Amino acid sequence: MSSVTARACANIALVKYWGKRDAALNLPAAGSLSLTLDALVTETTVDFSSAHDSDVFVLDGKSAPRELGRTQGLLDLVRARAGITARAHVSSTNHFPTASGLASSASGFAALAIAASAAAGLELSPRELTILARQGSGSAARSIFGGFVRMHAGDTTDTAYAEPVPSPLVDRVRMVIAIVGGGAPKTHGSRDAMEHCADTSPLYAGWLDTVPKDLAVAERALATGDLAALGTIAEANALAMHATAIASRPAIIYWQPTTLAVLAHVRALRAANVAAWATMDAGPHVKVLTSVDDANRVAASLREVAGVTDVMVSASGPAASVVSR
Ligand code: PMV
Repeated sequence: MSSVTARACANIALVKYWGKRDAALNLPAAGSLSLTLDALVTETTVDFSSAHDSDVFVLDGKSAPRELGRTQGLLDLVRARAGITARAHVSSTNHFPTASGLASSASGFAALAIAASAAAGLELSPRELTILARQGSGSAARSIFGGFVRMHAGDTTDTAYAEPVPSPLVDRVRMVIAIVGGGAPKTHGSRDAMEHCADTSPLYAGWLDTVPKDLAVAERALATGDLAALGTIAEANALAMHATAIASRPAIIYWQPTTLAVLAHVRALRAANVAAWATMDAGPHVKVLTSVDDANRVAASLREVAGVTDVMVSASGPAASVVSR
């Protein structure tokens, strides 16, 4: 047992994970596909010690009792597998706004899975780490790898894993992140929102029917290096996910007026032959898939939109890893 620090980058889904098949095992109802981003980094230190009398979770320098439960869920899986009972002190720092729809749970649980398993003396393969991270947060499985990553729905806990998808696009793409409303806390956490959509949205069945088709289109675009095809399916898939949420009863609407203004800007950029396709998650921010050549132009344009409080440009990020032990 020791103290280990791991680093993971968040990822943004191009084909979204939105719905669970099994809540207890956190099995996704369908596959998903993402891009890991180097601008959104979480660093997490896990220290198991028989001297600690309870688990403690510190997030961005402050004690976070509300988030402790989910962290403990993952620590318990690691303890059971390693055959230890020691309590852990966990400290996690997000180098971007937390819990605002910027996928901090993805980088957070990926870094936690790596740091906790290494600190407990386990030697897990990357695939095993994706399965462990998934049990903390579905999207976290994808943050174990860099670049483009495919999550498999699987039939059992061992077949719901993530793996990297090689593509000639990986060095040619950029993600421009437009922060809407200053990174305020999100209204509905993805876990509850997914359940609410599955239970009440008349569009949920259509959504689940769409995802495998969108994955096939996205994977073909990655294989052939077709950025326009990838962007087109990513934007359509994000809009389908949000349509499902908007149609749930009562409705879940993540968008702000500024979100729609950014979407209009993205369409105008495309009409001017700029590579730009939008995607949104469980929050008001807009992430724009673009090319390395057009990234600065897209970023400058989105900075002009009233209500956009920050704009970041990110390249593809690396796999999660241990940084010190
Ligand atoms: O991993 P979770 O439970 O936070 O769910 C992530 C959901 C979305 O970000 C909206 C979509 C995705 O695939 O990342």
